Amino acid sequence: MEVQQSKHSANASVTVAPHRSVHDPDNGHFRALTLHAEDPDCVKAARDMVGCYLQTWGLTYAVDDARLVVSELVGNAVHHAVPDNRLAMPGAARRIDVWLMTYPDLLGIGVSDEDSTPPDLPAGEFISPELAGDFIEALLPDRGRGLFIVQRLADAVWWSPGLNGGGKTVWCRLDLDRLWAEHSA
Ligand SMILES: Nc1ncnc2c1ncn2[C@@H]1O[C@H](COP(=O)(O)OP(=O)(O)O)[C@@H](O)[C@H]1O
Ligand SMILES: [Mg+2]
Repeated sequence: MEVQQSKHSANASVTVAPHRSVHDPDNGHFRALTLHAEDPDCVKAARDMVGCYLQTWGLTYAVDDARLVVSELVGNAVHHAVPDNRLAMPGAARRIDVWLMTYPDLLGIGVSDEDSTPPDLPAGEFISPELAGDFIEALLPDRGRGLFIVQRLADAVWWSPGLNGGGKTVWCRLDLDRLWAEHSA
């Protein structure tokens, strides 16, 4: 623990937490990207950004899963998010923020949009193959597969409301040790 002299008194000393710099790779990595849902290459830009930074950070083994996860989450923001203030700002671009972070054995991916409606996170596998019988369509519905895939790839998936009372972020956490073990198996 680092001890620093107080700014206010030459005689008093205070104990402060060691300063963690975001520029020190030992403290993890952080990148953010702002997109507009109207951009035709919006999902590709998010996917490429995530792939590119993970490569740069030496996390090649996490690239495939992370690209798929971010594609689904940004795709959802594009297709499902209706901004809370859409009536106040007709025609305005819809903002999407992508957050990518590692610390130190975890990879976090977040996608924020301007819609405070929560995502419809799957509760689990409620249709077993036995129950579905010959009706294979029951296992392959037309919608609702994206977050199911994300849940399968990630170690945790959740959402949080936007900080200023609007919008939300859908988050997922991938454990790098697990990804590395699966990659090396
Ligand atoms: N960012 C989002 N904003 C609002 N609703 C969302 C968002 N993401 C997902 N949802 C809701 O959750 C549902 C399930 O998402 P998903 O599993 O990706 O299936 P799909 O996109 O095929 O409908 C969506 O149909 C939508 O109703
Ligand atoms: Mg989807």
